[in-house]
Amino acid sequence: MCGIFAYLNYQVPRTRKEIFETLVKGLQRLEYRGYDSAGIAVDGPDKTSTDITSNTICLIKKTGKVKALDEELYKKDTLDLDAELFTHFGIAHTRWATHGEPSAVNSHPHRSDKENEFVVIHNGIITNYKELKAYLINKGYEFESETDTEVIPKLIKYVYDNRESDNLSFSKLVERVIQQLEGAFALVFKSRHFPSEAVCTRRGSPLLIGVRSEHELLTENISIQYNSGHSKEGVIEKNSHNRPDCSDSINSVGDGRAVEYYFASDASAIIEHTNKVLYLEDNDIAAVTGGKLSIHRMSRKAGEDPVRAIQTLQMEMQQIMKGNFDAFMQKEIFEQPESVVNTMRGRICFDSNKVVLGGLKDHLKEIKRCRRLIMIGCGTSFYATVATRQILEELTELPVMVELASDFLDRNTPVYRDDVCFFISQSGETADTLMALHYCKNRGALTVGITNTVGSSICRETDCGVHINAGPEIGVASTKAYTSQIVSLIMFCLMMSEDRLSLQNRRTEILNGLRVLPEMIKKVLTLDEKIKTIANELYQQRSLLVMGRGFNYATCLEGALKIKEITYMHSEGILAGELKHGPLALIDKDMPVIMVIMKDSCYVKCQNALQQVTARSGRPIILCCQDDHEVIKNAYKTIELPQTVDCLQGILSIIPLQLLSFHLAVLRGYDVDCPRNLAKSVTVE
Ligand code: M6R
Repeated sequence: MCGIFAYLNYQVPRTRKEIFETLVKGLQRLEYRGYDSAGIAVDGPDKTSTDITSNTICLIKKTGKVKALDEELYKKDTLDLDAELFTHFGIAHTRWATHGEPSAVNSHPHRSDKENEFVVIHNGIITNYKELKAYLINKGYEFESETDTEVIPKLIKYVYDNRESDNLSFSKLVERVIQQLEGAFALVFKSRHFPSEAVCTRRGSPLLIGVRSEHELLTENISIQYNSGHSKEGVIEKNSHNRPDCSDSINSVGDGRAVEYYFASDASAIIEHTNKVLYLEDNDIAAVTGGKLSIHRMSRKAGEDPVRAIQTLQMEMQQIMKGNFDAFMQKEIFEQPESVVNTMRGRICFDSNKVVLGGLKDHLKEIKRCRRLIMIGCGTSFYATVATRQILEELTELPVMVELASDFLDRNTPVYRDDVCFFISQSGETADTLMALHYCKNRGALTVGITNTVGSSICRETDCGVHINAGPEIGVASTKAYTSQIVSLIMFCLMMSEDRLSLQNRRTEILNGLRVLPEMIKKVLTLDEKIKTIANELYQQRSLLVMGRGFNYATCLEGALKIKEITYMHSEGILAGELKHGPLALIDKDMPVIMVIMKDSCYVKCQNALQQVTARSGRPIILCCQDDHEVIKNAYKTIELPQTVDCLQGILSIIPLQLLSFHLAVLRGYDVDCPRNLAKSVTVE
């Protein structure tokens, strides 16, 4: 996930070296989020006066670790490291590739032109960047990267070049730019035309500002100036620096005395400098001019708070490195309310029931004509195909095969030109999946990648595909990628069935379920304490069986995989329909059994399985729907979940098992993020 950090020192003398150190440290604090390249923008060597033509901005960008960027900074012999800059604004960014491979040119800051008149760092995704890019190219602007972000600096230069008056403030320019943007963003702008001024804004991506001052801050709260609309009229344009400004806040932060501002996407980069922070809200535009921070926004909605309070962060540095979590796996489990939103973002229009997966739309006709879908993956990614097979069959009305990549290759499975083969992989680098991709390509099938890693081999080598946008997954045990893979495949089903009249009610039901999915996930996560108690009871066991069927069979397989890979306990996912064909022999009062019994078409059959278990003195812990007394009365213990649409239920039912495996591993004393013998990306056969 990308990271933003920026630092403005106003009337606080800092050497260029100190400024570099602050920027690099800020980026290092964001490293845990995962990234593949980094960059900074600072004032250039010949910044000797406020004369605009003599201001330059120096951009330094590098793929790989922040350390590599840090080394690069000191290679710039044109930059005097000992020069003292009384007032300066520097911006820095770590990029996790989404549009275009990791490379220096694709990394941030992005620039408006070769003179670096405007430079920008961005977190999020601009969904209408293609249209904006085409417009700007038509106007003669040249692009150098493959990113969605680059339209932003080009657009601000376009607005600047075509401004109707010289009195347009920096924040007004930014306001005009964000009026054109769709998608999600946190943005920080720097410009040669507005030396030592900072403007930042957000919509859908977090951004906060830390304030540090030796003297008492002028105010604890900052009032927001609301413009009356999008038009220029109604904007008060005056300030003490004879530079027009959109904001006329009576209360603002700073009073022209020495002050430092820190801008970041995450409090972890700010906390070591100050605990006084101000969180921006969507569509806030914050500007620092003459050391004074003011905020304005386009218009006020009913019920909106007109004040941004400066908050005092209570957390310790150490706590927020993993955002209060003990392990990345735990953090990633708790990120799922957001990661599923990121998977759906810009792709589903809930008002029109339309789903558009940009990476597939040009191939949709061909996919609809195919003779079967073959879904191929390994481990968790394979289980995501098991979880969605039934809904794929139902909504695409095509035969669907789900295949473990290694077995698929071992069998020399027949593949034909009119097959469509999906390759599901978090890393996009898994050797078995990649070889299966080559195998299918050689047989002329259309290949589709479903990956979480832009620029990965599977992503590059497939004909088309979908990025699941779950954000970097660092824990070896896959969690949020699994739920995002399921959401992606369900979105594919919805896209395929858009013109099928007979399927519209079903589609609407699923779309309604997806709309409230993040809230439901949050509810499931509140069960954490209860699950911890269950883990306390189970952690010394040697074995754990997980049973279910239908849409929740995949939950059993994936849950058992989570348990075995990080707790080293034996665990097996069992299809409840197979119970009497063998596994029932394992059941007695001592064998820990988890059963998944949700209210779907398999409900009655699952209850039969429950009877078979309890009749053998089994003591099942049951994942069931809230207040399902029929099931609860036969359970040893229950974990009650909110009920959703059958094909989405697996997204909720896996979460208690992810949490359970996490707590079991902790109680057994194992390293949750790095289990023995396993790697995050399995690039060998
Ligand atoms: O990167 P991929 O999704 O292709 O990886 C496939 C499996 O190696 C992976 O899902 C593995 O099973 C996980 N460690 C499970 O948590």
